[in-house]
Amino acid sequence: MDKLVIRGGRPLHGEVAISGAKNAALPELCAALLTAEPVTLRNVPQLKDVSTMFALMRIMGVQADRTADGLVHLNAGPLHDPKAPYELVKTMRASVLVLGPLLARFGHAVVSLPGGCGIGSRPVDQHIKGLQAMGAEIVVEHGYMNAKIAAGKKRLRGAHITTDMVTVTGTENLMMAATLADGVTVLENAAQEPEVVDLAEMLIKMGAKIQGHGTHRIRIEGVDHLHGCEHQVVADRIEAGTFLCAVAATGGDVLLRFGRADHLDAVIDKLHTLGVHVDVVKDGMRVRSDGAASGELRAQSFRTTEYPGFPTDMQAQFMVLNCVAQGASKVTETIFENRFMHVNELVRLGARIQIDGKVAITEGPAALSGATVMATDLRASACLVIAGLMAEGQTDVERIYHLDRGYDQIEVKLRALGADIERVKA
Ligand code: EPZ
Repeated sequence: MDKLVIRGGRPLHGEVAISGAKNAALPELCAALLTAEPVTLRNVPQLKDVSTMFALMRIMGVQADRTADGLVHLNAGPLHDPKAPYELVKTMRASVLVLGPLLARFGHAVVSLPGGCGIGSRPVDQHIKGLQAMGAEIVVEHGYMNAKIAAGKKRLRGAHITTDMVTVTGTENLMMAATLADGVTVLENAAQEPEVVDLAEMLIKMGAKIQGHGTHRIRIEGVDHLHGCEHQVVADRIEAGTFLCAVAATGGDVLLRFGRADHLDAVIDKLHTLGVHVDVVKDGMRVRSDGAASGELRAQSFRTTEYPGFPTDMQAQFMVLNCVAQGASKVTETIFENRFMHVNELVRLGARIQIDGKVAITEGPAALSGATVMATDLRASACLVIAGLMAEGQTDVERIYHLDRGYDQIEVKLRALGADIERVKA
């Protein structure tokens, strides 16, 4: 297994291009299943999860080709086997996003239950409940969801659905299914994330009738069929936020080209009060910081909540800043039940953190010293990289296959900004 070897203490300077969003590209690849016509996606990031979704598409018979510069051509016309096998779904939960499109277009689908992951049990009961409200019969057996449209019916039917909680992929799955349903579907308690909005905009280009995306109430009027389209994947706000935190930690001055500051308000607000400058500039944003070593950073308490609140996917990356900033702070994780796995690894680097249920209490400033640490999930891995960039000495981050799921060559991008970081093949 590869690892990253990092020697800390170097500020970051220069310019980095933010890639397309993993959490937009994955549902948008699935949206191509809704039509037999060609779909082209631009700015698709080169990630392990995207490769996994590609493999899933091809197994089902979809023509899927991509170029090195992020251009993807899909054609689900030849799709012959609407089945998502466990071997692939267990490696990437987002595979469940094929369920809605396959059911809507083919009337049946067999999709493995994703199972849990490191950060939580992550059930899909809301996806199932919503599709059943639209007339699907879903039998769960042998670890698979066997879904079909009720006998005698040709299409799903529009429904008024209120999910028990805000669910990002739940909203995406139901929105995609509703585009081809007979009648109007209203999703109450819908997720407002920018990736949901970007998916809706792609579906509208395909001929879907959607209103209210970006609010908690999305209205979809079903149509008979959808046509192909071309769509550019929105920039990845979590990759951008990760780089903002890296510069905040090490100090420096970096331009994040294509980064969308308007998708990171909650994080940027906290960075400002921490003592970091983030400015909107032409086609991106600029971050400047004196770094933790300056003693000028002031720890910030926050709670993760659904968009537009502070994103759970940025919780670990910001916690590192609290470890090295002045003062005490509390971080409350309200979305997932086990998203503090980075804490024990940060403590090994010298951080002072106590966990009390959903709250992590940090006492700063701590002087981090390099050590060998282990990545446990995608964003925890990013947090350990940021810690290594400022820890004294060498930090080896192991099990970075987690990192490769969601970051497009992060060590190459960081090295170009002046970091002393290299990937060592095991
Ligand atoms: C999406 O996951 C993202 N993944 C996650 O990003 C992100 O952390 C999460 O949304 C929250 O923002 C993708 O978009 C591919 P949820 P998702 O359904 O949709 C509970 C990353 O690092 N829930 O919004 O799976 C669930 O357990 C990843 O890029 C149910 O109980 O998350 C959680 O507590 C990690 N039943 C809460 O809702 C359901 O049917 C929010 O989960 C669905 C969800």
